[in-house]
Amino acid sequence: MLEQFQWFLKKLQKLEQTVLRNHKIRSSPKRYKHLFEIVDRCKARRIMEIGTWKGEHSVKMINTTKKHWLPEEIEYYGFDLFENINEETIIAEVSKKPPSMNEVKQKLEKTGAKIKLYRGNTLHTLPEAVKNLPKMDFIFIDGGHSIETIQNDWEYSKRLIHNQTVVIFDDYWNTENSENSGCNKTIDSIDRNKFSVEILQPMDKFEKGRGVLCINFVKVMERTKTKERL
Ligand SMILES: C[S@@+](CC[C@H](N)C(=O)[O-])C[C@H]1O[C@@H](n2cnc3c(N)ncnc32)[C@H](O)[C@@H]1O
Repeated sequence: MLEQFQWFLKKLQKLEQTVLRNHKIRSSPKRYKHLFEIVDRCKARRIMEIGTWKGEHSVKMINTTKKHWLPEEIEYYGFDLFENINEETIIAEVSKKPPSMNEVKQKLEKTGAKIKLYRGNTLHTLPEAVKNLPKMDFIFIDGGHSIETIQNDWEYSKRLIHNQTVVIFDDYWNTENSENSGCNKTIDSIDRNKFSVEILQPMDKFEKGRGVLCINFVKVMERTKTKERL
């Protein structure tokens, strides 16, 4: 009886693995839909993205908010290492290689929005930039993935929050590396009396080596400002 049960369990596990492998794991990440839905719902006019990368999601966010604003009224602020990145940083930040800043700028300017890009490590660029930046309506934290960088990016983003600002963190993940990378540590340390913190579904799953990497977006808003939930 026990043997039969173990045999059945093994079969079930194999089946689950096959379904994961063949079915959705390789499909495009579903969590990104939140970016466009929230930018739309909160009628964001000022968008800040930490980790602009190729600017593809940036263009989609800007185009989404054109429902509510004229292109020239929309402001996009993007931070990235761009061509300053090197192999060492890619590894340390568990990052992707971005194109040059000019290439991305040209792409973003085609939207007609006001575009301001900052090239360099956010450990240095953000503390300087926030001195002169306006409050943002929507902030997407998706730059470097080291604990130090994410903590820094949150600390300085907080200074740009107004009473309806929505902050989305990418890379709340399940790996054993969440001690060294990803936003888990920062998210877990956020004071729930001051901020509402919501792990958003759906979770994306990717086959990685021997396991499955699960990633969620996390939505953060100041608590006094969550009466009208966005
Ligand atoms: C995952 S990609 C961003 C993806 C983009 N937000 C999107 O949704 O398409 C991460 C980006 O962060 C940038 N980056 C990594 N570490 C950084 C750091 N310390 N300072 C600034 N940018 C950084 C990388 O160059 C890369 O372009």
